Amino acid sequence: MPLRNPWFETVAEAQRRAKRRLPYMVYGALLAGSERGRTVKDNMDAFGDLGFAPRVVGHRAERDLSTTVMGVQTSMPVLISPTGVQAVHPDGEVAVARAAANRGVIMGLSSFASKPVEEVVAANPDTFFQMYWSGDRDAMLQRMERARKAGVKGLIVTLDWSFSHGRDWGSPTIPDKIDFKTMVKMAPGVLPRPGWLWRFVKTGRIPDLTVPNMRPPGGPAPTFFGAYGEWMQTPPPTWDDVKWLREEWGGPFMLKGVTRVDDAKRAVDIGVTALSVSNHGGNNLDTTPATIRLLPSIAEAVGDQVEVLLDGGVRRGGDVAKALALGARAVLIGRAYLWGLAVNGQAGVENVLDIMRSGLDSAVLGLGHSSVHELSPDDLYVPPGFRVTLGGGAVADAQAD
Ligand SMILES: Cc1cc2nc3c(=O)[nH]c(=O)nc-3n(C[C@H](O)[C@H](O)[C@H](O)COP(=O)(O)O)c2cc1C
Repeated sequence: MPLRNPWFETVAEAQRRAKRRLPYMVYGALLAGSERGRTVKDNMDAFGDLGFAPRVVGHRAERDLSTTVMGVQTSMPVLISPTGVQAVHPDGEVAVARAAANRGVIMGLSSFASKPVEEVVAANPDTFFQMYWSGDRDAMLQRMERARKAGVKGLIVTLDWSFSHGRDWGSPTIPDKIDFKTMVKMAPGVLPRPGWLWRFVKTGRIPDLTVPNMRPPGGPAPTFFGAYGEWMQTPPPTWDDVKWLREEWGGPFMLKGVTRVDDAKRAVDIGVTALSVSNHGGNNLDTTPATIRLLPSIAEAVGDQVEVLLDGGVRRGGDVAKALALGARAVLIGRAYLWGLAVNGQAGVENVLDIMRSGLDSAVLGLGHSSVHELSPDDLYVPPGFRVTLGGGAVADAQAD
């Protein structure tokens, strides 16, 4: 059902519309969070606690927002964070990749995504592929080589997940696969959301909830929960394992999920190209501090050796400016683009990227700069006690492998 005016002016408005449009189980899966929801909230609120220090005269007429991440050019320091966007929109990650390509930004593709890496790279050649430590080494190599062959320009390895599932506000029931029986069961949640359903009906498809990038050679794509089960049963990696993966890949390599200074230093030791200060969007161990609080000490410790990115809580361009001022090279966004995708497909993701760009441009203008590279802590009011340093001491032997 077409919306009369699908354009939205803020990410908050996109989220409100997504809530009205999506069946509750899909909306709830994107809302996510864990336990009390303290981290997911702090990720967003902490950006609001930081103040700007704008200049009154000396604004620059020309402003350059572009940069590079792991050697790849991007029109602004905002990347698409990898998410498994099962069932949000029939075009899924391909729509997101097209939007990112149209706006000149890098696409992060999850190995738990609903679309194959080959289709996503065809839509946006500037794609980084994300992997978890899941399955045996041969399976991981096979997935990695498939992504390399597809032409991805970098690998993101996410290692912070610890299978924390409970939410005080309840988790939606997500079926393993969608067949006639589950459709009947889901009908009360889906039928009041005809706009969402209609999109799938138009394409003649129903969300199949499989993860094609986890497909073994010659076998079918596993279901989301099938792949999740394999991951849960995989012994967690040591630093030596991560080093092995890094060496096997050889190219640009980002470690996602760092919150501690000692971990950031270990990541440098194993030769990562970049790291993302991340708590998985507050979906993991609840009460982990907001990533923007953790960023300054990590950027100070390793920012001259590797590229430091941040994800978690970014909802506007001003948030991007704040993260850059505190030492990030770029940020990744998750829910912000998912709300856009839910509301208006590819155009909705473009709408979100435009919101990010214009908000960042306003901040750079008001702060009197001509480039995002000029942003610094001097541009901000940082309230007392805002910064948090985790793992700031020497790496104890006990913590080594
Ligand atoms: C629904 C959902 C699915 C996600 N799936 C993945 C994933 O498959 N791989 C990954 O590295 N991170 C995943 N994430 C985490 C995001 O990449 C990112 O770290 C997080 O969303 C950033 O926080 P934000 O949503 O506040 O921007 C997911 C997040 C959400 C909300």
